[in-house]
Amino acid sequence: MIEQEAAQIQASEDTAVVPMYTKRDIALVRGDGYHLWDSDGKRYLDFASNYGVNILGHANPAVTAAITEQAGKLISCHQSFYNDVRAAYLNRLTGLVPVELHRAFFSNSGAESVEAALKFARAASGKTDVVSARRGYHGRTYGALSATPEKKYREPYLPVLEGFTSVAFGDTDALAAAITPETAAVILEPVQGEGGVHPAPEGYLQAARTLTQEHGTMLILDEVQTGFRTGRWFAWQHSGVLADFLCLSKGIANGVPMGVTLTSAEIATSLPAGSHGNTFGGNPLAAAAALAVIDEIESRDLLAHSAEMGAYMLQRLRGLQQPGIREVRGLGLMVAVDLRERATRYLRALQDQGIIALSAGPTTLRFLPPLVIDREAIDTLADILDTLLTQRSQS
Ligand SMILES: Cc1ncc(COP(=O)(O)O)c(C=O)c1O
Repeated sequence: MIEQEAAQIQASEDTAVVPMYTKRDIALVRGDGYHLWDSDGKRYLDFASNYGVNILGHANPAVTAAITEQAGKLISCHQSFYNDVRAAYLNRLTGLVPVELHRAFFSNSGAESVEAALKFARAASGKTDVVSARRGYHGRTYGALSATPEKKYREPYLPVLEGFTSVAFGDTDALAAAITPETAAVILEPVQGEGGVHPAPEGYLQAARTLTQEHGTMLILDEVQTGFRTGRWFAWQHSGVLADFLCLSKGIANGVPMGVTLTSAEIATSLPAGSHGNTFGGNPLAAAAALAVIDEIESRDLLAHSAEMGAYMLQRLRGLQQPGIREVRGLGLMVAVDLRERATRYLRALQDQGIIALSAGPTTLRFLPPLVIDREAIDTLADILDTLLTQRSQS
């Protein structure tokens, strides 16, 4: 009976969606903290958080209460009107960043937060071109896609926008050579996520900031994946490099779709009013969830906890004496295990053993657990991965 339910769920989806995703053969129906359950009642440790979204884990009581209460009052409120919850959220969010980033543009996704930054950089600078980094990922709308060099995302949809070029991530000389008098913006991730969890090399973001300032070019830091996840509120805080635009989404409302582009008052007020917009952006439901996320992270000291857990995870995984592992890298709770063979079979085997993980490139396993993850769950992951690699080396 239950099995039939799983099959029914799968058939309903498979016959009715545009088939863009490689599907896993389970239907997830419930979550609690860092656990997920499928329609057969099997429990999993969630080391993926829906690609980094469920930063507090699943069914967080504070977020559930905030959403429930707000849903009973007002779900949406177009930004041509003021709203109490949106205003309260703006106060809290801007309290987390320096005054140079105190203006917010609201949207509903990572790509939209990038799209706004790209458009604003063009409008505010009066220039057209954009330099991005290879292996970078910024989303699938045309602006974001134009800044995402990976061929597989672009090829069916060419041509992308004019004026976008890309350089090797971490190569300061290449970046210097790519910036021209027409460069409106340089866009970078402080830690490349989809590209394989590559933290920016020491000094690279500082060099990018210096170069962009010298050339009157804007710096966009895409923190859609790194925001709230690297043991600090934002990954830029590790380097101290302040951007002209900070793009946020994924974890900021624990699963309620939300995107935010932060910038300075100077840039914000230079943009022609009415030139960009977003129907759902800044809706009170998302703002209520996002407020609860900040409250929870603060009241439970989850940044310190996640920094500790991230360090523990790196230490445990680096401690595995497995020749099948090429490298373990990461920052905070963005962790990757680079293998000497394709990652797909391990994702499958981990899932069979009750662990949901992600890949990031063909040979890289990626782990983006909720900030509430603990040592016990990390030990379980490390032990299971150790066993799988041992079995593989003996087969
Ligand atoms: C760094 C970064 N930017 C942008 C995006 C796009 O976000 P979305 O899928 O919400 O449009 C992602 C998604 O993975 C991302 O990791």
